[in-house]
Amino acid sequence: MDYKKYIKSIMDFPTKGINFRDITSLLEEGPVYHSAIDELAEFAKSKQAEIIVGPEARGFVIGGPLAYSLSIGFVPVRKPGKLPREIATVSYEKEYGVDTLCMHKDSIKPGQRVLVTDDLLATGGTIEATINLVKQLGGVIAGVAFLIELTDLDGARLLKEYDVLSLIKY
Ligand code: PRP
Ligand code: HPA
Repeated sequence: MDYKKYIKSIMDFPTKGINFRDITSLLEEGPVYHSAIDELAEFAKSKQAEIIVGPEARGFVIGGPLAYSLSIGFVPVRKPGKLPREIATVSYEKEYGVDTLCMHKDSIKPGQRVLVTDDLLATGGTIEATINLVKQLGGVIAGVAFLIELTDLDGARLLKEYDVLSLIKY
């Protein structure tokens, strides 16, 4: 399917010079959203994924339905102060300052095959931090899946050792 035609591009959002690729217009189209999740699910299945991990907030919109469709678990990656049980944390550099992401420490079993997913790959900082959390917990990265990859930002350079699927590339 030509998913690109369902993505709206908004110039100068959230700041001047950014051409923002908006997934919400794709999510509004039920059969298109369904088809995108089906394609990502086929990929996850082909990599023998046993559990899905996705960062807040938009990673939930992809990872949740993906896990449901495969009848496997979903593990949220969250900002500090949101998860109630014992957590593992990772800090990473953002454009301005440092950010931290957290996962429940017992959410992944050692050796478990994990499909990591998010809506969009930009610089790769978020997905790299998410992968580092999964590895800290002893998970194996079965694959990495996105709806969108912004190729000019070259986040893919951080994912060279993994099997990666992006449904749409800009
Ligand atoms: C966006 C997007 C990815 C991340 C990609 O999330 O959903 O998670 O940025 O950028 P990167 O590859 O440069 O790390 P955002 O931080 O805007 O949070 P949100 O999902 O809560 O909107
Ligand atoms: N769209 C959505 N999220 C983003 C973008 C974008 O173009 N760039 C960085 N995060």
